[in-house]
Amino acid sequence: MTDTVDLTWYEEEALAFRKRVLDRTAGLSERALADLAARLDREETEFLTREALAMYPGANILSPRVQRLLGSVVASRASEGHPGAKYQTGLRWAEEAEVLAAELICRVFGAKYAEVRALSGSMANMAVLNSLTEPGDTIFSLSTPVGGHISHAKIGAAGYRWLDIHAIPYDAHNWEIKLDELRAEVHAHPPKLIIVGASLILFEYPLREIRAIADEVGAWVLYDAAHVAGLIAGGAWQHPLREGAHVMTASTYKSFGGPPGGIVLTDDAEIARGVDRAIFPGMTANYHTNRMAALAVAAAEMLAFGREYARACCDNAQALASGFRAEGLNVAGKSHACTDGHMLALDVSEQGGGAYAAAALEEAHIICNMNLLPWDPPRRVRNPSGVRLAVHEITRWGMGPGEMARIAGLFADVLLRRRSVEAVRGDVIALKAAFPSLHYCFPEEE
Ligand SMILES: Cc1ncc(COP(=O)(O)O)c(C=O)c1O
Repeated sequence: MTDTVDLTWYEEEALAFRKRVLDRTAGLSERALADLAARLDREETEFLTREALAMYPGANILSPRVQRLLGSVVASRASEGHPGAKYQTGLRWAEEAEVLAAELICRVFGAKYAEVRALSGSMANMAVLNSLTEPGDTIFSLSTPVGGHISHAKIGAAGYRWLDIHAIPYDAHNWEIKLDELRAEVHAHPPKLIIVGASLILFEYPLREIRAIADEVGAWVLYDAAHVAGLIAGGAWQHPLREGAHVMTASTYKSFGGPPGGIVLTDDAEIARGVDRAIFPGMTANYHTNRMAALAVAAAEMLAFGREYARACCDNAQALASGFRAEGLNVAGKSHACTDGHMLALDVSEQGGGAYAAAALEEAHIICNMNLLPWDPPRRVRNPSGVRLAVHEITRWGMGPGEMARIAGLFADVLLRRRSVEAVRGDVIALKAAFPSLHYCFPEEE
């Protein structure tokens, strides 16, 4: 493989990394390249499952049954239209699984309608934007520094829909939406849609009040539950549809612990109809059809174990926050609370900043990510003052409050005590080895 393409829009580090890979693989046969790709996947899998504390919020480990279904031959089948009335033949079992997936997702979230074919949370958001807005319409969403997701922003799905995007006024230091200012702004620039929900989501939102403001100007409310879907499913987080959102989207593979994908939930038939059209024929033909059986399993596991899982996530987050504070780390949050859920943010501006901290933790096999904190200016996106982390994956491995105290110590070893990285890594691997199997799921089928 030779590097003759113009990629001047890439970052320097990305160009250098790409060059190293291409140099290392130059001259390999097709068979050797295929073997290498498979080995890379095995090594990444070994790292993530056996050698690391995976605490990146936007990911999860899948149950054995869900994982196995993702390798099914059904994956590569186009499946257009509604189950029972597809344009393709030969899919009768997959069609049944699709009905089950939607039905079980409705049951988990107590919603009337579930769209389960979106390939990601961003696509689920895109489907809602397509259904509820026209190009040029005004929307309100949380800005990126205060945690808003790019699919709510100009550079993401909302921008691709040509929407006029206004920032929801936010009190960065108190982690609160400023409701009075929001009301005034919404009356000055009446929106079609208000989006709440974020990537940095530590606290519940005053959804009832936001819905009341939306009603004053006839706007829809979308709650993006990408990160908190698992907590909502387990009854440990505010229920968006019960508290006023007209529609809720989520990623299915973060705290929810299902296959990669997105869902849209609503009790409103008109919204469901518009989303259905946006997904097909709007955006998909093959939606990785095997995901339907996998999502049905994940939803069934959530019905069986979700309450226990969500409670354990919240307890672990509280224990970890206490551990961080006892170690002298600066846990971001309100004066009286660091989180209502499974996610935490550390202000590491005095320990070298978010980029340094995330890289140093990675060296020690602790995976989290650098993140803007609400008071950071957007230009600091490559070196923000925070790191963001969550406990749902380590909770699924069976870890509890006792382990959270140890993990807080490992963070402090890296960020405060600057203990040898090899020593911390050794402790991480030993800790992980004590938790070899997954909880809150059904055992692998015989
Ligand atoms: C709030 C929010 N919405 C949507 C998404 C997009 O999800 P996906 O990665 O499934 O497209 C994310 C991703 O992290 C997110 O944080």
